[in-house]
Amino acid sequence: MDVAYLSEWANLLLRWLHLITGIAWIGTSFYFIGLDSQLDPAKDGNPRVAGEQWSIHGGGFYHKQKYLLAPERLPEKLHWFKWEAYWTWLSGFSLFVLIYWGQASTYLVDPAVLDMPAWLAVLLSAALLAGGWVGYDQLCRSKLGENEALLGAIGAAALAVTAFVSCHLFGGRGAFLQVGAMTGTIMAANVAMVIIPGQKKMVAAMQKGELPDPKYGRWGKQRSVHNTYLTLPVIFIMISPHYPMTFQSQWNWLVLLAIGLSGALVRQYFVLRQKGANPVWLPAAGAAVVALLIVTGAPERGTGSAGEAPAFAEVQTIVASRCVACHAARPTMDGFAAPPKGVMMETPQQIRRWAAGLRQQVQTEAMPPGNMTEITPEERAKLVAWVAAGAPAE
Ligand code: HEC
Repeated sequence: MDVAYLSEWANLLLRWLHLITGIAWIGTSFYFIGLDSQLDPAKDGNPRVAGEQWSIHGGGFYHKQKYLLAPERLPEKLHWFKWEAYWTWLSGFSLFVLIYWGQASTYLVDPAVLDMPAWLAVLLSAALLAGGWVGYDQLCRSKLGENEALLGAIGAAALAVTAFVSCHLFGGRGAFLQVGAMTGTIMAANVAMVIIPGQKKMVAAMQKGELPDPKYGRWGKQRSVHNTYLTLPVIFIMISPHYPMTFQSQWNWLVLLAIGLSGALVRQYFVLRQKGANPVWLPAAGAAVVALLIVTGAPERGTGSAGEAPAFAEVQTIVASRCVACHAARPTMDGFAAPPKGVMMETPQQIRRWAAGLRQQVQTEAMPPGNMTEITPEERAKLVAWVAAGAPAE
């Protein structure tokens, strides 16, 4: 068994784990944010109960109460919510290391953006990951952290700078995932470094018979609210590798921000809706942003299809020299055990079968990754013109 084969399996199993734990994490996170918004003033007269909610689910009635600071006594059994966050990060980070650091010359470096050795790209990526968390955390702990609106504005600006920098250091796909990994790291670190330690201090205070310091509750709530707005932008980033028109666009960092913004708007809509409002303008604004992207985003950097369609023989020559090293039953490119995504382009039938995907990938310059096989703009134009002419077999 060779390394490339095993690494494909590692990729699949880590991705599966990442999805399983990520769904569990987001599920609890959305649930508790919603619950907090839906609490009604408590009726049973206990002054410590800040709010309560009755609900029905799965054939049963539930009665939940939130204690603003703490109940009188520490309950015997207390459920914590942390492993779903930790495992989401651990699996996601491992996947990121496996793909974007392990194959940095394919997925992170794009000489058309910035030519650098793979080790430097990995170093920069790691520095950004760590720096992103430290910067964010310091900001929240500073005086500015007390003003939510100001903090939100600074956070959005910092995200814009990060997206810009990342998209000017790395190839589009790697740049997007870099921003996603940074955001996901911030979300998980919020749980591991702020929310859980604060809750532990609250529990410890109660064990000593003292009232917990309310600041831990405040800090925890602040970070958990941040996480809820970051969730949908991160999910978009995680699926973006399937859509080269986003990460390969000339203005890819703006596309990233715009789709991220529309995700946050949609989330805000649900948060407010759970509080009883119905601000439909929020998802409408999100949809307008995406509509704007669709209208303005026709490939610019990619090659047009104005040229004459070349003869099929010429297409075959180009594909053989620029694509087949990877897209073959037995790839000759180092690190590839099987044809990526099952796409093989060795025979005329195979090339024609994949014509539509070939055009999309070549036009947006998503393929070859990092232009490893050094396809020329003229060759791109020829491939696109051939597909535009109906992918003739002559
Ligand atoms: C260095 C190896 C390599 C080379 C060279 C290469 N590809 Fe790919 N190709 C990949 C990888 C890796 C993927 C899977 C990307 C992913 O994970 O989404 C891929 C995926 C594809 C897909 C499927 C995209 C999808 O998500 O459905 C198409 C189509 C494609 N390549 C076309 C081409 C064409 C056309 C060329 C030549 C111009 C080419 N590739 C050259 C590695 C390569």
